[in-house]
Amino acid sequence: MKRAAWTSVALVTLLAGCRGQPSEKSPVHLIEDMDFQPKYQAMEASSFFADGRSMRPLVAGTIAQGMLEEDDAYFRGKNGDSFVSKAPIEVTEGVLHRGQERFDIFCAPCHDRSGSGRGMAVRRGFPPPIDLSSERGLTMPDGEIFQVISNGVRNMPSYRSQIPVDDRWAIVAWVRVLQRSQHGSLEDVPEQHKKSIESESGAK
Ligand code: HEC
Repeated sequence: MKRAAWTSVALVTLLAGCRGQPSEKSPVHLIEDMDFQPKYQAMEASSFFADGRSMRPLVAGTIAQGMLEEDDAYFRGKNGDSFVSKAPIEVTEGVLHRGQERFDIFCAPCHDRSGSGRGMAVRRGFPPPIDLSSERGLTMPDGEIFQVISNGVRNMPSYRSQIPVDDRWAIVAWVRVLQRSQHGSLEDVPEQHKKSIESESGAK
């Protein structure tokens, strides 16, 4: 058993040396052989290309498959030069839950969970943002809020690299919920709850 093992080690070592190097007579480019393939090693110089590099840069404007992002409304919140007024996604209950969760993680530190702008970072000295339910917040089209999340604005940093596109739209939808909660009327309350609210607030 032991001897067999040693023999195979010896054989492998011996045979490994059996391939000769390509000679003048058999130039490397002519050998159709996997041992001697014509190839460049990483960073190797090339005499073929004018700039001497064998590692070629991508042709200008190259875009990987599936990365074209040509849907302006979805990826930039824009329709031509103007912002889309409504998010180009279907707003379902699931989307709103996702939006709330993401808002509380990414936006609440400054904007607080209600969007009024008194988040923990602000209470510790960060420049205060606008109240998202203010006139300014209410009149921003969905696409503009999406754009602010994507690119930041003045004192607010960009969240493009941290929040995927889908989640940015979910957050926009949640901002609309927060606004509605600040500007709702009795008409927004489901029928079965109206009575208790009326009696609590003494409203008619
Ligand atoms: C680090 C703190 C911070 C975080 C986190 C933050 N913001 Fe802001 N936001 C600000 C500040 C500060 C402003 C005011 C910017 C200014 O005018 O200088 C602002 C402004 C805004 C505005 C109004 C922009 C305008 O043009 O008037 C919107 C909308 C907004 N934020 C949405 C969001 C959303 C949604 C999130 C979460 C994805 C978020 N922000 C996260 C600090 C923050």
